[in-house]
Amino acid sequence: MKNPPCQGIIEEIVELDVVDSTNTYALDAGRPGLLVTALSQSLGRGRRGRTWFSPAGENLYMTVTLAPPEDRYPIIAGVAVREALAELLDSVGVAVKWPNDIVITGKKVCGILCETRGGITAVGIGVNVNQTSWPEDLAHRAISLMQTSHRRFSFDEVTDTVIVHLSRWLERFFHQGFGSVRDEFLRYGLLEGYELYTEEGERCTIKDLDMEGRLVIDVSGSARSLRYETISLSW
Ligand code: BTN
Repeated sequence: MKNPPCQGIIEEIVELDVVDSTNTYALDAGRPGLLVTALSQSLGRGRRGRTWFSPAGENLYMTVTLAPPEDRYPIIAGVAVREALAELLDSVGVAVKWPNDIVITGKKVCGILCETRGGITAVGIGVNVNQTSWPEDLAHRAISLMQTSHRRFSFDEVTDTVIVHLSRWLERFFHQGFGSVRDEFLRYGLLEGYELYTEEGERCTIKDLDMEGRLVIDVSGSARSLRYETISLSW
């Protein structure tokens, strides 16, 4: 990072070339206020035990550590990173897909993995920055900032913008509670216009986000509330 933003959440920055996973590194370090970035990951992790495509060169892998843990960090991080990417892209339709994928035209531009160990939460953020070619299995569901805007982005610019927005939303949450995070999620996370499906393949629509951070969906006229289950944009 060129200008470490002293936004209150970052006290120390570790910039690595290669690491197994920035989340593992950050959790092993075991202290809050750490920003870990890497140019590539050998064991990048996604949610639900998936691997995260982490080649060197075009994408950003970063982790911020926070304490104490909080169940709603994944949602706060989602709205914050969405706002950051929307700013970088001059607001081209950037949405949050529950709980915290950032999507553009239904394709994923960023994934977030929050993991907690020993009183520390690692907020791991993978942003597809300048990637333009994808492995076959990702080609139809991944997109990068560059593919959206037809310009290259520096990692410093993306990292700084993400940290600024993440700090702002955490500050808002700590001082004012979850209300404004919920409002922001409902503004950018309803995914109206997309066909949505539950993990079981049922059509659903998003109705609300409750103050505990659970998603309320409608499935055939019945309300259901989700904490860990995902929804998908097609089945
Ligand atoms: C997902 O959408 O499944 C979450 C992906 C999270 C990827 C990031 S990259 C930086 C950090 N380190 C990891 O191993 N994973 C997260």
